[in-house]
This record gives sequence, C-alpha cells and structure tokens, in this order.
Amino acid sequence: MMRYMPKTVIELLIKNMKSLLWSPQKGWRLEVTDIAVDQGKILDVGLGLSYVAHKELHFPNIVVLPGLIDSQVHFREPGYEHKEDLYSGSKAALLGGITTVFEMPNTNPPTITRQLLDDKFNRAKGRMFVNYAFYGGGTKDNASSICDMEDHPSCPGIKVFMGSSFGPMLIDQEEALSQILQRTQKPLTVHAEDETILQKNKSELNPNSVIQHPQWRSEESCLSATKRAVNLARQLNKRVHILHVTTAQEVEFLRQNRDIATFEVLPQHLTLYAPDCYHELGTLAQQNPPIRDKNHQEALWRAVNNGWVTTLGSDHAPHTLEEKKRPYPQSPSGIPGVQTLLPIMLDHVNHNRLSLERLVDLMTIGVIRVFNLKNKGIIRPGFDADFTLVDLNKMWTIDNKDMASKCRWTPFHGKRVKGAVFAVIIGGHLCYQEGEILTEPMGQPAYFSNTK
Ligand code: DOR
Repeated sequence: MMRYMPKTVIELLIKNMKSLLWSPQKGWRLEVTDIAVDQGKILDVGLGLSYVAHKELHFPNIVVLPGLIDSQVHFREPGYEHKEDLYSGSKAALLGGITTVFEMPNTNPPTITRQLLDDKFNRAKGRMFVNYAFYGGGTKDNASSICDMEDHPSCPGIKVFMGSSFGPMLIDQEEALSQILQRTQKPLTVHAEDETILQKNKSELNPNSVIQHPQWRSEESCLSATKRAVNLARQLNKRVHILHVTTAQEVEFLRQNRDIATFEVLPQHLTLYAPDCYHELGTLAQQNPPIRDKNHQEALWRAVNNGWVTTLGSDHAPHTLEEKKRPYPQSPSGIPGVQTLLPIMLDHVNHNRLSLERLVDLMTIGVIRVFNLKNKGIIRPGFDADFTLVDLNKMWTIDNKDMASKCRWTPFHGKRVKGAVFAVIIGGHLCYQEGEILTEPMGQPAYFSNTK
C-alpha cells in the first residue's frame, strides 16, 4: 500500500523505539516501531518510515507509552492558590509523566455554573503544562446549571460529593442527587461516602487520633453511598463513575453492576495500608475515603487484575504541611499525587503486581471508555501526539524536594522505586526530558465525543 508522503519536513519522528500500541483486534502489544508526528497529530505508525523530520528521537532502552491521563486532580484555583494553582499543579503533572488532567470542581468558588466553568478554562490558557478538562460540580440547588456545564465540549461531566470532604460541595439528600442525575448526559462522577453515617460515626467516636480515620469514614458509609448512587442510576437509566473505591464490599457490589457503573482506584490505596501508614505518616496519610487495612487493599488489587476497575487516578489533593499539622480531625484530608502516580505504579509493575499493559489501559482506554475522550490515549494515526516515555529499569528515590506541587511533600518521600519518567511529548512537542522542562506551558483543552 502506498503511504502518504508529505512534501514538507514533518515535525517529529520517533525512530525505532519500543512502543505500547493498541488495537481493538489485538489489544495491547509492545512493538519496536517508528512514529511520525506532524501538526500535533500522529501521522503514521510503522517500521521503516522514511519521513524527513525537524526532530528525530531514538532512545534504545526507553519505552514509548501513549500520553497518560489522570482523571482526578484538585489544582485548587481559584480560591486556594496557597495550596496549588493551575500552573504549579500542571507542572507537577508534566514531571510525573501525565499528559492530560481532569480537574475537580471543589475550588472557591466551587465550579457550579457555566460561567465559573468558563472562567477555569480562561485561567488555564497559556498557564498549563499539560492538556486539561474541568468537571462541573453538582450541589443541592444547581440542577438548572447541569446541562449548561455538561455542554462544554471540554467538560468530562459532573462531580458530586455524597459525603462532606474538602470544600462546601455536598449532596446528602436523595432528591437533590436525583435532580442532578436526571439531567446528566455524561457519566456522573461520585465521591461516595454517606454523610448521615459519617455524622453518626463522628458523634459516637469523637475521634482524636488519625488511626480512627477509617472507623469514622467507615466501610459501611462507602458501601451505602455507592449502593445509593448506583441504584438511583439504574432507576433513571444513567451512568455513574465511582471515584477512589476503598472497600472489598464496594468492589463486590460494583463488579455486579458493571453495566451502569464504572469505578476508579488510587495508587495510595494500592500501596499504603492501615494501621501502619497512620503510625508512619500521621495526618499526611489522612484522606477521604481513607486508606484501609491490607484485606481491602488485596480486594482492590484483585479488582485491578481482574479487569473490574476502569480508571486509575491520583486524586492529587494538596494541602500545606502547616495545614496537615493541625490536630486531628481539624487537619484537612487529602494527599498530593499527580507527580508520583506513575513512578509508584511502575514500581508495582516491576514487582509484578500488575502488567505495564494493564497500568496503561487504566490511564488511557479506561478513561476513553468512561468519558468518551476524543483522539487521545492511543498511538494511532489521527490521534493527538501525546506520549509518555518511561525508563522501566531506573532505580531512584522519591524526594519532597523534587515535588513541583506548591505543597512540596509526598507520602512517598524516601521511597526507593524502580521505574521513572524519562520524557514527555505533548501535542508533538518534547516538553520534558530527564529532569528538565523544555517548553513554556503548552497544554490545550481535551475534548469529549459525547458533547451535544
Ligand atoms: O481526601 C480528600 N481530599 N478526598 C477528596 O475527595 C477531596 C480531597 C480534597 O479536595 O482535598
């Protein structure tokens, strides 16, 4: 077959590199190939391409992955810029090998109208190092704004908090949740903790040590909220995506409801466990829903390896060290993670906890399936030229001082890991390589094909 040959010199040629390709027929496969890139798009994929390019890349021991997507980050702008902003958060994402982020609405003001959503996109222009999408937020009384927000072509959908976490967004009434769900055309993204159970537990326990965090924010509370969200979705014939699932009971329930519900897990829940993490890290390990014991962690790994989980996100939720040092439970819940998500998971790949293919699947095809993300996540002609290049064999130590997040800490400080980000290409531009950022912020909005 004749190949299309452009007359001019193309932007970039990735030459003879081990690359993770995907097709519906063959699934994932690691192959040595060339990848031709022009005008920010993948032009051609195959061995022995003969394009002339402005830039040619060939790194023998490096693996080219499709650009990885983190579908849950909190970048805190507007309102909490002392913790993070779109510039610093996206810089951390770039250094962490993430090429696209979906950012959460619990800012101040929360992103609960179309105007506030548009404001976030305006703020992002020219200030984000990676591609971006912004969720709209659902509250008790903004049902009339849901369609307007979802109609934004770069909005992945609406996020709701069924249990109070950080920020004022909370939906604890069935009726309000139903009002929102009825209006959604995109999957409703849910923080599933049951507020009534949380309140009851808190008053009975009166917690004063972070070790009690998993009891206050109990398994029953998560299961109850997850069941309510999924059952309501079934009644209304809608889809829900349950964020950061932490319990064996929810895994079992969600496994049986895969026709309408998908779910996410986080690296911290797959890596840290109670009670050890609370002894070692104190409130730095405090997050909602909480890090639980090893039995639950094993259930999450089963869900990863049996294909029940659909996405893996960081839930990057920075708070300053001063804030985290407040006496529990005044200390805020949340753990930064956009820069460490991939290295931590590559280390798990190197310890045979999951395959590289499964990891990449959770951060590309899984995201496409849940959110109908357009033109990203697959190395295929016509798709956006976003790539994450990794060195699977590099041993190194995660360090607070290397964190680009404004909060400058990670619960993984001092952890030695095998597997590192080598370089990041966004829209055909080599934006990062071996510790150095090479471009100005180049991030662009991501698009979804289920927008009207
Ligand atoms: O612990 C958490 N903190 N969980 C969330 O889902 C929200 C987050 C935050 O925004 O700080």
